[in-house]
Amino acid sequence: MAKQEDVFKKVISHAKEYGYVFQSSEIYDGLSAVYDYAQNGVELKKNIREYWWQAMVQLNDNIVGIDAAIFMHPTTWKASGHVDAFNDPLIDNKDSKKRYRADVLVEDHVAKIEAKIDKEVTKAAKRFGDAFDKDQFLATNQRVLDYQAKADGILKRLGKSLENEDLADVKALIEELEIACPLSGSKNWTDVKQFNLMFGTKLGASADSAMDLYLRPETAQGIFVNFLNVQKTGRMKIPFGIAQTGKAFRNEIVARQFIFRMREFEQMEMQYFIKPGTQQEWYEKWKEKRHKWHLSLGMGEENYRFHDHEKLAHYADAAADIEFKFPFGFKELEGIHSRTDFDLSQHEEYSGKKLQYFDPEENKSYVPYVLETSIGLDRMFLAVFSNSLQEEELENGTTRTVLKIPAVLAPTKAAILPLLKRDGLPEVAQKLIDELKWDFNVVYDEKDAVGRRYRRQDAAGTPFCITVDHQTLEDETVTIRHRDTMEQQRIKLSEVKDIISKEVDMRYWLQKI
Ligand code: GAP
Repeated sequence: MAKQEDVFKKVISHAKEYGYVFQSSEIYDGLSAVYDYAQNGVELKKNIREYWWQAMVQLNDNIVGIDAAIFMHPTTWKASGHVDAFNDPLIDNKDSKKRYRADVLVEDHVAKIEAKIDKEVTKAAKRFGDAFDKDQFLATNQRVLDYQAKADGILKRLGKSLENEDLADVKALIEELEIACPLSGSKNWTDVKQFNLMFGTKLGASADSAMDLYLRPETAQGIFVNFLNVQKTGRMKIPFGIAQTGKAFRNEIVARQFIFRMREFEQMEMQYFIKPGTQQEWYEKWKEKRHKWHLSLGMGEENYRFHDHEKLAHYADAAADIEFKFPFGFKELEGIHSRTDFDLSQHEEYSGKKLQYFDPEENKSYVPYVLETSIGLDRMFLAVFSNSLQEEELENGTTRTVLKIPAVLAPTKAAILPLLKRDGLPEVAQKLIDELKWDFNVVYDEKDAVGRRYRRQDAAGTPFCITVDHQTLEDETVTIRHRDTMEQQRIKLSEVKDIISKEVDMRYWLQKI
């Protein structure tokens, strides 16, 4: 089995074992691509949401938040283009009867070519040692250049065929590349067909009067239809933004990779309303701002990259993904889209209501352009969780499993551990908990030897352990142990709160943006 798959399996099993993510309705054998967040998962998710909200809404005086309903008038989705164009190109394998996204089959094939490039780089780095110059190698090695040209050529052709809705050519590409069904190895494919991803439902009790609705496939439309309400009641001046977090639903066909691609998931989106003609400038600015937000969490600059879209969505004039290095390779984490005036103009047309902004500086009204940043909360969760899970070799020859979640996002900030279950130590520990719980999530743990308790908290992702021992009774000091370095210090009981505060305070982290 490939190493990547092992790592990913470990991520999934750790998420379950330590109370982060469970399969939905597990006792009934689960529901495909639907997951529940457990006691630790819900806290991590809440902290990521809050970290985004503070950066987007609280720290920007021209961005406000809303919370629109999941149900929207069905015409919304006609206007937005989702009824006609929110489709995936699907292909069935006639032998295994398995269904795939045709574009994903091709992209997976390209990923294999790119993996060959990585292999060449690793080999050359070993051969040349310190003298190795990766950029030069990538630019000059003939084998690498051939692989790259092949990968680029395939993606270009795929982008073009999808853009022209030439599904016959997508099938031809799959056949030419001799792509086989990952399950059966068969190359016996059906034609490629389009499949709409929205879930339908009904509003109302009686069969005749019930209204056909969709569960929203993106939160963005709740912002567009409220654009003028917010602008007027908030007396907002362009440029300004509206942000929202909330559930979205897509009937994903390739629903694998754990919480990476779910059927019910949460988005954190911001629509920035701007003067037409300024979209390029704002596109670059928001790409940079969002990149900085990611980097502020310290998860490694090398784990992020931008990917410019070849095939633009029906609403965009420019789009890029911020990709993250997940255990299964670089994949989309966040999208930055220049959506032009497409959505507002469509809603004007379908609703018959004006959705224009009167610009006092220009002394005229216009439909604003929109720059969107859209990140999946669950994907961000997976990025943080998978990046944090590490197996470390220790100096004494043992290994430890540690979940190095950035302290600001960690579900529990500290574990309070009485060294023994007697001599008044549990009472002192409990008193400390009673004081700290007003500011942070803290847990009490008195079971097993203290070393084992440290390991348990390392694996659960708790950044600090505070141990109360007999010396505490004498001089009111405790031991604080740092998860990432395993360093221990003796500090005063009265300092505990401030020391933890400093390291988990969002202000300290967000100042890096
Ligand atoms: N309003 C624009 C929009 O929805 P998108 O690229 O389709 O754009 C934005 O989605 C983000 O939502 C993605 O970058 C991803 O993080 C997340 N996302 C999309 N589909 C998802 C799914 N099925 N499961 C989990 N997250 C998803």
